[in-house]
Amino acid sequence: NGGASGGGAPGGYPDRNITFVVPFSAGGPTDTVTRMIAEPMAAALGGEIVVQNVEGAGGTVGAGQVARAKPDGYTVLMHHIGMSTAPALYRDLGYKPLESFETVGLVTEVPMTVVARKDFAPATLKDLVAHVKANAGEVTLANAGIGAASHLCGLLFQTAAGVKLQEVPYEGTGPALTDLVGGQVDFMCDQTTNTSGQISAGEVKAYAVTTPERVESLPDLPTTAEAGLPGLQVSVWHGLYVPVGTPQDVVRKLSEALQAALADQKIVDQMAELGTAPVPAGDATPQAHRAKLEEQLGTWAKVIADAGVKAS
Ligand code: MLT
Repeated sequence: NGGASGGGAPGGYPDRNITFVVPFSAGGPTDTVTRMIAEPMAAALGGEIVVQNVEGAGGTVGAGQVARAKPDGYTVLMHHIGMSTAPALYRDLGYKPLESFETVGLVTEVPMTVVARKDFAPATLKDLVAHVKANAGEVTLANAGIGAASHLCGLLFQTAAGVKLQEVPYEGTGPALTDLVGGQVDFMCDQTTNTSGQISAGEVKAYAVTTPERVESLPDLPTTAEAGLPGLQVSVWHGLYVPVGTPQDVVRKLSEALQAALADQKIVDQMAELGTAPVPAGDATPQAHRAKLEEQLGTWAKVIADAGVKAS
């Protein structure tokens, strides 16, 4: 790849479709954010972006596939906080977050919500804690596999509540939410980018949002601190990655396209409707993303070790 600017030109990047790999199910939160930014990024790059869902093992299957892809800028990974939790949870990951990828830029940081099937008995977060303590053997907690944001949030919930529950893994919280709405599982932690619609429509019961502040689009939902569980704090940062060795001018073009997409008012509005926002422009850069990843790898290694969870 040469340094031709103004994408789309023969010999310049991109001169064919770029694949954005989502390591979770279609229709879920990671997929939603990816598809949201793919269009304005493609426009900024002067090319086409195809979204591919490569599910499995809490996002590690898709991440591994991108780690092994040709480092030419045509395979891009959208991943979230799970990039920083997996090394502490998997003995044989097959990739190293800081060594296998080039960071492109941060995208968004999404609050989580604690939601249940709508006929689940507990009315408040405090009731939920009491209920799961009294019925630990029966209550089911959905997640998107080990290392997923929902798994992590569920872990924090169980630690804060002092219980161990029966976890039901899915390949993404898209299908998990479908089962929650259908009443097949009891509750889960999931991102507002997936749950906002069902919460507003009353299709699920919502207990709290896991951020220090309430979410503007869900103004009636208390924070976990307000609802009596201040230890349950997590938000799901997302970033774009390419395989290590990808030419720096390609990384720069992707990062600039990401910044353009995040500055698009349509994206700002779409994200706000789903309880989130683009990161500040300065964070949609390889440097800021790498610094965040480094910090988060350390943070989560400690949290996971303190929670007594062993890598499997
Ligand atoms: C998804 O897209 O399914 C999620 O981000 C899953 C999760 O990490 O909980």
